[in-house]
Amino acid sequence: MDVRTTLKQGLAQLRDAHVPSFTLAAELLLLHVLGRDRTWIYAHPEEEIAASDAECYFELIARRVAGEPTQHLTGKQEFWGLEFEVTADVLIPRPETEHVIEVALDRLAVRELRAGRPQKNDGAGLQIADIGTGSGCIAVALAKELPRAAFVATDISSAALTVARRNAARHQVADRIRFFECNLLDGLLSSAAANAEASVVGAQHAAPLAQTEASRQASHQSPVTNHRSPLLDLIASNPPYIGRREAPTLMREVREHEPEIALYGGEEGYEFYADLIAQSAAHLKPGGILVLELGHDSLPAVQPLFDTPTWTNVSITNDLAGIPRVLSAERL
Ligand SMILES: C[S@@+](CC[C@H](N)C(=O)[O-])C[C@H]1O[C@@H](n2cnc3c(N)ncnc32)[C@H](O)[C@@H]1O
Repeated sequence: MDVRTTLKQGLAQLRDAHVPSFTLAAELLLLHVLGRDRTWIYAHPEEEIAASDAECYFELIARRVAGEPTQHLTGKQEFWGLEFEVTADVLIPRPETEHVIEVALDRLAVRELRAGRPQKNDGAGLQIADIGTGSGCIAVALAKELPRAAFVATDISSAALTVARRNAARHQVADRIRFFECNLLDGLLSSAAANAEASVVGAQHAAPLAQTEASRQASHQSPVTNHRSPLLDLIASNPPYIGRREAPTLMREVREHEPEIALYGGEEGYEFYADLIAQSAAHLKPGGILVLELGHDSLPAVQPLFDTPTWTNVSITNDLAGIPRVLSAERL
């Protein structure tokens, strides 16, 4: 069977099964099996495909028809122009989360301008946290944009952190991101202690978030941060924000295949934000920036949490569908 016929058959099977974006899925699965790029496929429609490749392709098509996400079958998803490994242990990075990166970079640039420094910011001296890192997409994308910044990335799922570490290594930023298994930010202290040895590895790059062992012992402070002298310049997070009551309305590939812990924020969905915002207030430096992704209906519940003397310059950014998607604010 040649390339064109194989693709046509795969596409027809997905279309008949009402798979969303069936053309793209059929193409991506064929590219994956053949190890080729899209240009090659369309330049070689008559090329014969090995029987074993065709068999493998139609097995993947059958799994996609049965509801497995394309990204679980190919093991990857692009985010911010970078390819991320994806497994069933992590949320598949979504295009709307790229707004978190845009807003974070914009707000850092504005802060630099206000301070009279050049707008082009390489992140020197910045200490940044990604809470609920999943695949690591936010921390890794920011680390690529800010090549001199230091990062912590937390997740409650150790399986997700394993994938995030591999993605950091794949993009050569592992020496600047320290990963912690904890609840939001509040386990950083104990996790950091448990990882004390790891935290001093690559100390030249990764240590800006950590004090030296000597100064830590002297002050009895967390190696990452503490409530008396917060150290973070930026916290970015895409927390779980879907309401459990919405579960029946989710697409099957999401509901049945993505990790529940990454999807659901609680019965309503917005339950994570109050804790996340309170902890962020305690960990950000004055002038530090918080950037949060919002669920499609989270804004009315989340915005009032910023009506306190703690926060200023609260700003909302819509996604391409016009949904308020990112809330950012500055710690006073
Ligand atoms: C919506 S996913 C976001 C993943 C990734 N940052 C992204 O944007 O694709 C939320 C992540 O938060 C993690 N998570 C859930 N509850 C958490 C908690 N209490 N503390 C830290 N992370 C948590 C999940 O394991 C999941 O990886």
